[in-house]
Amino acid sequence: MRHSDIPQKLATNPNAQVWWAPVSTELATLLDRINKVAGPTGDRMVAATSILQAELAGILEIEALIPELSSAIRGGEQAVNARRAAGAFYTPSSLVEFMLTRTLDPWQHDNPSRLPVILDPSCGTGRFLLAAGERLVTAHVSSTGVSSTDAWQLIGPHLLGFDSDPLATAWLRGRITMLAGGEPTAAAGIRTCNAFDESALPSAEVDIVLGNPPFGTPLRKLGDAELLRKKCAAITGSPLGPYADLAAVFLLLASHALRDRGRLSLVQPLSVLASRDTQLIRADLASRCTTVFAWASSVPVFDADVYTCVLGVHVGVSASRSTISRWADLPARALAPTPPPPSGASWSTLVSAAFDVPDPPAIETNGTIADFADATADFRDQFYGLKGTIVECPGDLPPGHVPVVTSGVLDVAECAWGVRAMRLLGEKWTRPVIRLGALSQAMQEWATNRMTAKVMLPTQTRILEPVLDEDGRWLPSVPIVSVSAPPQDLAHIAAVLASPLMSLIALHRHLGTARHPQAIKLAARDVLALPMPSHTAFLHHAAAEFRLAQNASTNAKRVHHLQLSGACVHDAFGLSAADADAVFAWWTSRVPTRTAATQGKRSVHT
Ligand SMILES: C[S@@+](CC[C@H](N)C(=O)[O-])C[C@H]1O[C@@H](n2cnc3c(N)ncnc32)[C@H](O)[C@@H]1O
Repeated sequence: MRHSDIPQKLATNPNAQVWWAPVSTELATLLDRINKVAGPTGDRMVAATSILQAELAGILEIEALIPELSSAIRGGEQAVNARRAAGAFYTPSSLVEFMLTRTLDPWQHDNPSRLPVILDPSCGTGRFLLAAGERLVTAHVSSTGVSSTDAWQLIGPHLLGFDSDPLATAWLRGRITMLAGGEPTAAAGIRTCNAFDESALPSAEVDIVLGNPPFGTPLRKLGDAELLRKKCAAITGSPLGPYADLAAVFLLLASHALRDRGRLSLVQPLSVLASRDTQLIRADLASRCTTVFAWASSVPVFDADVYTCVLGVHVGVSASRSTISRWADLPARALAPTPPPPSGASWSTLVSAAFDVPDPPAIETNGTIADFADATADFRDQFYGLKGTIVECPGDLPPGHVPVVTSGVLDVAECAWGVRAMRLLGEKWTRPVIRLGALSQAMQEWATNRMTAKVMLPTQTRILEPVLDEDGRWLPSVPIVSVSAPPQDLAHIAAVLASPLMSLIALHRHLGTARHPQAIKLAARDVLALPMPSHTAFLHHAAAEFRLAQNASTNAKRVHHLQLSGACVHDAFGLSAADADAVFAWWTSRVPTRTAATQGKRSVHT
């Protein structure tokens, strides 16, 4: 599109519903025009704002250019980074419409004679507000017979939007004004501001919140992090964790802007469902609101490489625990509903089905791993503390040296140290050992504690991959959780962790905490909270099979014994043959090739 085409587009296509993808020549044309209006000494942001509001609000193709335009004017060559920093990734119209249907429609059903006040606290160019306005205008026109211009004059002031990007708000203001026949008061609710200003989100009072707040930035990285933590703490009672996502802060404050019976639907990062640092937000929501629906996409739907979900809630907690509807992908397809998560638990179960993680079957338990074992995870200090102490050991281990392992050489019931190469601290190693004498005093104490009988459990893996280290031979590097227990219990715990059921339970509980939704990331306390089975005779068999798997002379034998171990664990949890088969089938579809040959007999019952 050349700039000379713009007035014609405005004349011929003022209400086009297609959001065009931008191309760089269009941006260049627009920048050229802005430069001309600003002149050599003028403010380009002011010029761009007035052009967008006064001249270009009728052209929907311009809207998709605005994040880049904004970045280009502000950040020059840093344009892409500036866009990422602002989290300016607009929502696809199919998701906007889906969220409106599940939020605005039920609100109107409950309040047939009132017009709602609708807020998007980070409205960008107003995709949610314009689509909501469109629905309200259409309904008003059909029920009263007034013109659409008159309807926009009435409905426009009910649309509230905050955004820190002046170009996005200018275009949106211009667009609502245009739809209302040039009446600027229709766009009075659109403000250029930081949503967290006292006069913005914290003092808003609305019927509906819709939107897609900026995310990906942990609270601790924000300039106003302390202020925000205080604002949140005033609501939740204690400060949020430093890794809580900015989007979760929007969720918390926006939910407090809702009037009685108000409804909210916000796009969120998956981490909000499961991370410890957002637990207070989940608890606050659960205490005041009912979660009505959840949506997630198994593939990223925004340009940014993030997996997202949508949470839909309404204010008020009913005595009966109604189920939550679950949806996946676009166009959205319905999945089986789920009961609300128990108090204090993660909310991963709201979206796990969207990632093909089935709900685990009912099981018979005997407490948790914490009743039998202890678990410890190490952190960056222990990781970097190994620097300068690693050497290759081609032959026998010299005294004072211990083999160090990473998750790269661990498979279920198998440690491939010395067989498979691994990377550690940026270097490739074949037989890496630590010179204990070269470690600092604190690291030596740490190493002594780790060189004991344990189960090593890597995290961020597709299935749980425990390895038994009954002799305390290996020094585990980060991120491997070490599980210690009395000698007679260690193999039992390894067998339980290695079972397909435990991978399923772990991912179902903690989906959203890892970098990728299909990876299982467990903190030490999460490992300890996993269940132990009630039928101990089967568990003894499972432990024996796990030992045979770990000592197997061939991979085929390891896989065979693992399969029997898993089947025994499933029997120990009282799974039916059908449930055991279903869990095995899910697990088999995701295991690494070396362990994948797990076919055939899946339950001791069969
Ligand atoms: C993911 S975009 C969503 C825009 C729009 N709601 C949509 O869904 O298309 C996030 C928006 O948040 C805005 N934003 C970032 N930080 C903000 C803040 N502190 N206050 C208000 N808006 C902010 C960005 O400018 C960007 O327009």
